[in-house]
Amino acid sequence: MYLVANWKMNMSRSLIDGYLEVLSSEAMFGMLEEKGLSVAIAASHIYLDYVNREVHRRNIPVRVLAQDVSTRLSGAFTGEVGVPNLLDIGVKGSLLGHSERRRFFRETDEDVVTKTNLCLNGGVVPVICFGESQSDRETGATFETLQTQIEPVCQEIVRAREEGIYTPFYLAYEPVWAIGSGVNAGLEDIQEVIAFVCKGFSWPDPPICLYGGSVGLDNIRELASLKVLSGFLVGSAWLDPHVLLHSAKLLPKMERSTHEGVRFK
Ligand code: 13P
Repeated sequence: MYLVANWKMNMSRSLIDGYLEVLSSEAMFGMLEEKGLSVAIAASHIYLDYVNREVHRRNIPVRVLAQDVSTRLSGAFTGEVGVPNLLDIGVKGSLLGHSERRRFFRETDEDVVTKTNLCLNGGVVPVICFGESQSDRETGATFETLQTQIEPVCQEIVRAREEGIYTPFYLAYEPVWAIGSGVNAGLEDIQEVIAFVCKGFSWPDPPICLYGGSVGLDNIRELASLKVLSGFLVGSAWLDPHVLLHSAKLLPKMERSTHEGVRFK
């Protein structure tokens, strides 16, 4: 099972040091191994190099992901960070299409497809986020929105496979109304969406699906009972590394599945 902490625009050098200190405990190493858990941290670009170096220096079994990449590879695009920049500092995974990027920075479905293409080509594992808004839910447009977000991404992954590119990918269902709201989606809703996503498109290999949106100590065990989920993408609760560790403790020991062979690289 995959546990991804999305730090968003939080943390500082000293908070990062404290966070990694907690994650470097022997108890954590043992538990991850025993339970078959794989942990990743999505840090903001400014801290990526530092976190990645520290994780390696301290030998912490945690993958480091970016929170976004540019739709361009390089050039005169002030403020952007491209796939080659990530690779240059040894970061081999990134969130893509997070709802906060879509909502506050007008990222489009087309941008997400372009980013997916660049990541797959570059060997950067994309964690592609999707999810409906509150108004989609209320107006019965949930599946239409999901279809619009996912279909072109699926086509892009198929195209990559046809070209002999086998970079793994992850999907993260994050209903917009559940993010940071304290209200998480119901088990049946999640199950229905994941079934739609897995069966409604011609994926070249079975998607690995994470869930995000107000996941915390009070609900992670129940959410983990959903066999369709392979992990969680968590914001606020996992800004505290003790909560991340405690969450991991609450999870059942995972059966080794085919998914376990795919690690964040
Ligand atoms: P919260 O866990 O704070 O609801 O955020 C979820 C999220 O956006 C993770 O990417």
